[in-house]
Amino acid sequence: MRIILIGGTGTIGREVAKALRVNHEVVIAGRSSGELLVDIAIPESIETMYKEAGSFDAVVSAAGSARFGPLDDLEYDDFLFSFRNKLMGQVNLVKIGRTFINDNGSFTLTSGVLAREPMPGSSAVSMVNAGLEGFVRAAQLEMDRGVRVNAVSPVWVQETLLAMGRKTSEGMPAALVARAYLASVTGTMKGTVLDVNDYV
Ligand SMILES: NC(=O)c1ccc[n+]([C@@H]2O[C@H](COP(=O)([O-])OP(=O)(O)OC[C@H]3O[C@@H](n4cnc5c(N)ncnc54)[C@H](OP(=O)(O)O)[C@@H]3O)[C@@H](O)[C@H]2O)c1
Repeated sequence: MRIILIGGTGTIGREVAKALRVNHEVVIAGRSSGELLVDIAIPESIETMYKEAGSFDAVVSAAGSARFGPLDDLEYDDFLFSFRNKLMGQVNLVKIGRTFINDNGSFTLTSGVLAREPMPGSSAVSMVNAGLEGFVRAAQLEMDRGVRVNAVSPVWVQETLLAMGRKTSEGMPAALVARAYLASVTGTMKGTVLDVNDYV
C-alpha cells in the first residue's frame, strides 16, 4: 500500500511510520517538514496536498492540536482553535480526501483517551476527541467504493509524559500505541474507534 502519514515526525507518528514501513510505502506529510507539506487547519492546504500526492491507498493522521487549560481560562477562541485544528482538520482529511483515495482505501484519524476519561483542564480536548469519534462512526455510513474510516484513541504516551516531567508509569510507549494504527490500516474494521489497550 501507499500510505500518506500526516504528523509522521511527531511522537506517535514516528513510531507509526516505523511500523507501517515494514510492508508499505509511507509518504510523510507535516506542517513544517515531510515529503508533502500541509496545514490540516486550512482546507485549501489539504486539497493541494492530495493533488500533489499521486495515487494512495490509506491516510493516517497522527496530527491535530487542541487547547488544554482550566475551563475558566479557556476563551471562545481556544475552543474555536481546537475545533478548527484537531477536529475539522481531521474531518476535512476525510471529506476532501475521499474523492482522491483509491478503492478500498482507509482513513485512520486520532482522537484520545480524554474523550472517555476526562480530567480537569481537558474540556476542549475532550470535546474534539469525542467529536472525532462520533464523526468516524457516522461518516462510515456514507463511504462508498469500500473506503473505511476509523479513529485510534491513544492513552497518554510515555515519551510525552517524560517531556512534561510527569510519571511515565501510567503511559504507554509510542511504539505500542503504533500497533493500533497498523491494525486500522491493514485490518477490516470500519467506523470503529480503536482503543490502543486492545492492541498491545
Ligand atoms: N502524545 C500523547 O500522549 C497523546 C495522547 C492521546 C492523544 N494524542 C493525540 O495524538 C496526536 C499526535 O500526538 P503527538 O504527541 O504525537 O504530537 P506531536 O509530537 O506534537 O506531533 C504532532 C505532529 O503533527 C504535525 N502537525 C501538527 N499540527 C499540524 C497541522 N496543523 N497540520 C499538519 N501537521 C501538523 C507536527 O508537524 P510539525 O511539527 O511540522 O507541526 C508533528 O509531526 C494528537 O492529535 C494528540 O492529541 C497524543
